[in-house]
Amino acid sequence: MIILGINETSHDASVSLIKDGDILFAGHAERYSKEKNDWYVNDKLINDALQHGTPDHIAYYEKPLLKASRLALRGGSGDWKPQFNIPGIPKKSFRHHYSHAAAGYYTSSFNNAVIVVLDAMGEYNTSTIWVGEGEKIKLKYKQNYPISFGLFYSAFTQLIGLMPNQEEYIMMGMAAYGDWTKYYSKVDEYFPSYDNQKYNFHKGITDWGWVSEEDKFDIAAAVQFVYEQRLNDFMRMAQSLTGKKNLVFMGGCALNSSANTLLWKIFDMIWIMPNPGDAGSSLGAAAALYGKHIEWKDPYLGYDLGGTYPIQQIVDGILKDGVVAVASGRAEYGPRALGNRSILADPRDPNIKDKVNLIKQRELFRPFAPVVMAEHASKWFAMDFESPYMQYTVKCLQPEKIPSVVHADGTSRVQTVTKDQHSGLYRVLNKFYLQTGVPILLNTSLNIKGQPLLNDEDDIEQWQKTYKSLVIR
Ligand SMILES: [Fe+2]
Repeated sequence: MIILGINETSHDASVSLIKDGDILFAGHAERYSKEKNDWYVNDKLINDALQHGTPDHIAYYEKPLLKASRLALRGGSGDWKPQFNIPGIPKKSFRHHYSHAAAGYYTSSFNNAVIVVLDAMGEYNTSTIWVGEGEKIKLKYKQNYPISFGLFYSAFTQLIGLMPNQEEYIMMGMAAYGDWTKYYSKVDEYFPSYDNQKYNFHKGITDWGWVSEEDKFDIAAAVQFVYEQRLNDFMRMAQSLTGKKNLVFMGGCALNSSANTLLWKIFDMIWIMPNPGDAGSSLGAAAALYGKHIEWKDPYLGYDLGGTYPIQQIVDGILKDGVVAVASGRAEYGPRALGNRSILADPRDPNIKDKVNLIKQRELFRPFAPVVMAEHASKWFAMDFESPYMQYTVKCLQPEKIPSVVHADGTSRVQTVTKDQHSGLYRVLNKFYLQTGVPILLNTSLNIKGQPLLNDEDDIEQWQKTYKSLVIR
């Protein structure tokens, strides 16, 4: 049975195609339309997906009538139902949070786990706890709009002048530069416990007053601190409610890599599907319809540029120029570039951070992430777990040797890689290690700030013309 999963009319439209237990394709609308956070699927994306098979069923993300009622009662943006349709094919819609839960649990290796979904909001749900046992997923706890972890974080993102629903990751990065103690008690009043908030953050924060440029970093630090405290409380409640030692964490909040690290103190094993936000929910809806585990091999599920990974060219380029852009094979499904649409650079050079930030036209304070050979990770970073999808931020143990991938607070958002996960990238790292003694590279997404990742041949040609910078393929 081939199922086409569709996520449309919620930010980050996407399409997935699964056949029985295999994922044939999963891709983001924005990479094809070039419109960041595109809400709608497009013909190019659909045609790319359908090259892999003809669907017997369509599974939609979100229940349209429930969403329509929420939009009518509570407001919000977007259409209440998807536009995409193939006449004559059976269709089914799945709830927002259930799709998140299915995307996480059915791609995990667990047969017994608690599933926590935290985001801004689904149709009504904002925080849910589920239990996954065998192939069954059952709801155990729900919290509804307007109390919401995601809306809290987004409202403060907006307060400090960033784009809500889009630039939360920038506020997370700014937190490392601020003093959390300055505004802690004030922010804490807005979110005193996981089931209590001062008011409806959907409408933004209206009673804070003027925010200076300097204050923005201190506010970001306080918000991150309070968020982590509430997350800790909520996760401990989820653990004691269900008694489970394995956690599946999904929803946009699972993209907060700084906060995710604390979860290892609560759970034995953790799975965060590498695309835990709404963009991952086309796969979630398809998995929900399938109703069984699907095999997660890797996140390289999108547009296929083909070719073999240009290992030697990458190593030579980095040793010569310090930085290379690489595009090869299938595009990553998820927000992080994990080697196939990446800019890779020498982490030893303290000036490389500015150089890459200038290429990407980003703020100079923005940190970069390291990719490290998995077997060396614990020597360089305070971690005793793998992080193949750049989902956890940990303390760097040798910051003086790799200054360009260490954040202001001494941490790094680490990607670990094994030969099995990405043999090409692993071999690049190994060659760099043999030459330099450092098994680490800087890895950041191949895009300009605010634009989608490069996807296909046309994008690469355009990039080379516009920025006069070569993309290795
Ligand atoms: Fe969501």
